[in-house]
Amino acid sequence: MKGVILAGGLGSRLFPLTKITNKHLLPVYDKPMIYYPIQTLVNAGIRDIMIVTGGSHAGDFLTLLGNGREFGLKEINYTYQEQEGGIAEALGLAEHFAEGDRLVVMLGDNIIEKNIVSAVRNFEAQKEGGRILLKEVKNPQDYGVAVVEGERVVEVIEKPESPPSNLAVIGIYMYDARVFDFIRDINPSDRGELEITDVNNLYIKAGTMSWEILDGWWADAGASIKDYWQVGQLVYSSGANSLP
Ligand code: G1P
Repeated sequence: MKGVILAGGLGSRLFPLTKITNKHLLPVYDKPMIYYPIQTLVNAGIRDIMIVTGGSHAGDFLTLLGNGREFGLKEINYTYQEQEGGIAEALGLAEHFAEGDRLVVMLGDNIIEKNIVSAVRNFEAQKEGGRILLKEVKNPQDYGVAVVEGERVVEVIEKPESPPSNLAVIGIYMYDARVFDFIRDINPSDRGELEITDVNNLYIKAGTMSWEILDGWWADAGASIKDYWQVGQLVYSSGANSLP
């Protein structure tokens, strides 16, 4: 199992903080944002990690993280996203790195209280396909929203005006090697991006997408300035990424 952290984008929802740096390098309480997803992957036993970033501050990731010694890693792999092509486009750049292995993909601005140890174990036990993690939220219209029927997830809808449920699809996705074929099959959305939600729907159509509810709190630190501020408070008051 390998890990990919997506840390590109313009961070326009956190403007002007992101005028002079990449969103994922901004502080969240006492650490740069990118530290949290790295720690989440490491806590789940993942040691092969690639960071996909872009823009004019990409070099700062190397300065900050180096070879990942602070996380007990021997090296960190990096790749550069040349355009704002969306989450799925960024993930497509990791095909070479994946070498056919299964992946845990994490959005660099997603911070969780606990860990994904059992979710990764459940994914390993799966014969094939993908696995998404869901969390009940008060504002599902701001996220990808899952429609679940019993054991089955039947659809994911990206930021729906009238959400069919309050189950947000959080930014931690588990995929087998088929993900790269699915990325090649999708087209840009209205916002001009290759959407990870479209990839997830192809797994659902293929009948190989599983899901589970994440335990503990989850935050998308890049969703708005308010979310960014609140996640700092959450990390301060209850900790994040406790050891498994
Ligand atoms: C992205 C995904 C969305 C998901 C969210 C989680 O949204 O498109 O489906 O629920 O991350 O953080 P974005 O924050 O890029 O708009």
